[in-house]
Amino acid sequence: MPGPTICFGVETSCDETAAAVVALDGGRPRILASVVASQAGRHAAYGGVVPELATREHLRALDWVTDEAMRSGGVAWRDITVVTATRGPGLASALMTGHSFARAVAIAAGKPFLGSNHLEGHLVSAFLDPGAPPMPDVGEWLALVVSGGHTLLAIGRSDGTHEVIGSTLDDAAGEAFDKGAKMLGLGYPGGSALEAAARHGDPSAYDFPRGMLRSGDLSFSFSGLKTALRILLGKRFGGTAPAGKALADLCASYQRAIVDVLAAKATMALRQTGLRTLVLAGGVACNAALRAALAEACGRDGIRLLAARPEHCTDNAAMIALAAAWRHAASGAVSPWDEDVDPNLGLAPAGQKV
Ligand code: KG4
Ligand code: ZN
Repeated sequence: MPGPTICFGVETSCDETAAAVVALDGGRPRILASVVASQAGRHAAYGGVVPELATREHLRALDWVTDEAMRSGGVAWRDITVVTATRGPGLASALMTGHSFARAVAIAAGKPFLGSNHLEGHLVSAFLDPGAPPMPDVGEWLALVVSGGHTLLAIGRSDGTHEVIGSTLDDAAGEAFDKGAKMLGLGYPGGSALEAAARHGDPSAYDFPRGMLRSGDLSFSFSGLKTALRILLGKRFGGTAPAGKALADLCASYQRAIVDVLAAKATMALRQTGLRTLVLAGGVACNAALRAALAEACGRDGIRLLAARPEHCTDNAAMIALAAAWRHAASGAVSPWDEDVDPNLGLAPAGQKV
């Protein structure tokens, strides 16, 4: 019986510098340590992530997040089976910092290195919850990955393969939240601010478009939604964001439009594939209205919902370490030492397993 696969992982694809140690034993992950240094506050003033600033901050934080993860995990380098870092998708210069750092660490420790796909991290992130069943017991699952950069429906499998069956044609769901929040004067990143502002609003007060709801396929489109908000703000509020009840109603209605489409497409994908487990992951999966809508839809159809814990929805290294441990344990995969980062790395398209 082989022992656990213990993975040290680093994540620097955007504006979080993270390091983690995860043990995978019989398909059951255990987080030994997970450290996240968020730079969100550094970028807020610019209304978005500034790549140069992110890169400099990663270089500053990588050493200490690594030391902290190894110390709090109570592990020595000799205990580590494989080292990983996100190789894509993400900001090129930000990816390079963590990827180069982790390869150097692996060489110094005499350990193999395996680059991780950030999206695969989100795909497996719900299994980090100690209450989740082990991956082999689930076998195959549908994942709805909703983040600032991606909106995907993908099939994940416990043998380490995956397949995308639906994605956005334009903006990601998180982008729709962020752009809406910016127009409504709620700052950046705005997803959680918009959710908070929506709390006492009426979701049926304004009728926002549900992009591609009746397209019959699993594609998403959110760009029309922000245009509709801009037009509505111009017509009804003189181009500026209102306050009080009107703001709450706008936020609640805007949020409802995004949630309705995500829930409808996930339900359609479950029916089409016949899968019985839905994994909900990515930063937008923190949203309580989305979690509630999917819990209701899954409950109605007898589907098991595995929603990633909020701390594993936003970017973290535990999911990256699990993705690598999962793949390494399944197939012994390692990366060549001259592996490069890939800012546009995707998941495998339908019909092509990776
Ligand atoms: O997964 P993530 O941390 O980074 C990417 O890989 O993109 O996702 C960040 C995104 C941002 O767009 C942020 O506004 C959104 O997740 N987000 C939320 C909430 N919390 C974070 N969107 C809606 N409601 C939330 N509570
Ligand atoms: Zn992410």
